[in-house]
Amino acid sequence: MDYELMVAQAIKEQIGDALPIEKIVNLLENPKSVEHGDIAFPAFALAKAYRKAPQQIAAELGESVNSPIVEKIEVVGPYLNFFLNRKEVSAAVLNEVLVKSGHYGDAEIGGNRNVPIDMSSPNIAKPISMGHLRSTVIGNSLANILKKVGFNPIKINHLGDWGTQFGKLIVGYKLWGSEEAVKKDPIGELLNLYVKFHKEAEENPELDNDAREWFKKLEDGDEEAQELWRWFREESLKEFNYIYERLDITFDSFNGEAFYNDKMQEVIDLLEEKNVLTVNEGATIVDLEKYNLNPALIKKSDGATLYITRDLAAAIYRKRTYDFALSLYAVGNEQSNHFNQLKAILKEMDYDWADDMHHIPFGLITQGGKKLSTRQGKIVLLEEVLDDAVASALEQIEEKNADLPNKELIADQVGIGAVIFHDLKNDRLNNFDFTIEEVVRFEGETGPYVQYTRARAMSILKKSGLAGIDTTVNYPLDDAYSWEIIKLLQDYPSVVKRAYEKFEPSVIAKHAIHLAQAFNRYYANSKVLTDDAQKPARLALVQSVATILKEDLRLLGVQSPDQM
Ligand code: ARG
Repeated sequence: MDYELMVAQAIKEQIGDALPIEKIVNLLENPKSVEHGDIAFPAFALAKAYRKAPQQIAAELGESVNSPIVEKIEVVGPYLNFFLNRKEVSAAVLNEVLVKSGHYGDAEIGGNRNVPIDMSSPNIAKPISMGHLRSTVIGNSLANILKKVGFNPIKINHLGDWGTQFGKLIVGYKLWGSEEAVKKDPIGELLNLYVKFHKEAEENPELDNDAREWFKKLEDGDEEAQELWRWFREESLKEFNYIYERLDITFDSFNGEAFYNDKMQEVIDLLEEKNVLTVNEGATIVDLEKYNLNPALIKKSDGATLYITRDLAAAIYRKRTYDFALSLYAVGNEQSNHFNQLKAILKEMDYDWADDMHHIPFGLITQGGKKLSTRQGKIVLLEEVLDDAVASALEQIEEKNADLPNKELIADQVGIGAVIFHDLKNDRLNNFDFTIEEVVRFEGETGPYVQYTRARAMSILKKSGLAGIDTTVNYPLDDAYSWEIIKLLQDYPSVVKRAYEKFEPSVIAKHAIHLAQAFNRYYANSKVLTDDAQKPARLALVQSVATILKEDLRLLGVQSPDQM
């Protein structure tokens, strides 16, 4: 139920045509503190129509407005402060949550239309980085959120499996590599070869020519080049898949850059047809001056295509294949220029749907204040981060609840969940630093804190001995602590909508933290299991909190253990 709308309607009844209903809704405010009620309306906007002072208008409306869900109205200067009828509201909200359960907050905005989400997209033969982790968990959460509001998300792993670096790898492998070494530690060894190639090429620039040649061969379908490439790709994918399994994240497509190799010529032809190409010293470019962007290089003088050429092909392919409503790219903000260029080129080609493409940028993760880069071999392996997080979770479980059954499994859900939650709890554009200890803490604004709070709610329900909550009766509650929770539950559908509109999982994470905090305050101040007339209502509240915390976590891609 939309209480703001109900209050707005009650105001509208009194003021007639002075303001349209949407305008009234927009004017409604959330009072800073509960002493000022639940919803406030500033009367300034009516001063002109009424030719009266706002204070006077407020005083008069305070007398006349009435609604069954409003308990009282206080007039403070030009403001009307509405106090909702807590019993009415809590009965309605709890009933809705209990009946709809995990579907509470679902919406039908998407009309089941497709939304490809370009996410994760690590580079073959290189370790998957913290940046790729961010892309993976942000993309996955956006997919869950989009699904909840009625879209059909398609998770695409646009693997970096093509490009001149494969020429370098092939040359490096042929000069210094061996099959056993690659088999033993695929990405580690391929990275070694790549690093060695760069070092050697500084002294021996001939190597760069060899690498270019080998990449050209690869593009032209040379058997040997293809075979090595396929093998490097497979071995790398095995390692990536291991990480995805641990994160419990799946993809609908692994069509990476290589997939578009045979679709390049058509892109060039289309660009030519639309008259947007210029040849400059042998290189083919698109001038983007009118967009205030640097020219985009589409084809090098040796005929080799580039990252952006493949992204053009991918964008067109996705439009044709999915006829998307939106097309999202969860990629670090350092690639903003790339995506601006990509969209500008498509606009130049008169593709209006370029406006439906959204780059979802995010900030950098640092550890101990340092950037985690692959170049200096200083990579923090994602696997290690996950292992450390799980170990830390297990340690804390041993301390808190040594007799817990399935400790290992739960430590896994807590440790991995902690890393994911930490990644999603801040506005995605923020840069952030992390230490494992901070990420996996059971107190503070962490994933384990939310999981722990929900597990506590579950254990209260278990202790109550209640088989289930009866949804045919009303649960009116009116104390201050439960009211805080009711308001957070009531707000949930608009929280979900806001997360979708801003493509921002942190909106969900923040809701989870606030709900967990409100619940812990409630629990500290009320005797939930005392046998009295209000007990069923308190348990209904506990059940509702458990349901929505779980749903919050699910939208983020974090598990909810019942015990921990
Ligand atoms: N492989 C790229 C990288 O690691 C990310 C690809 C992002 N997706 C895209 N369609 N360009 O930097």
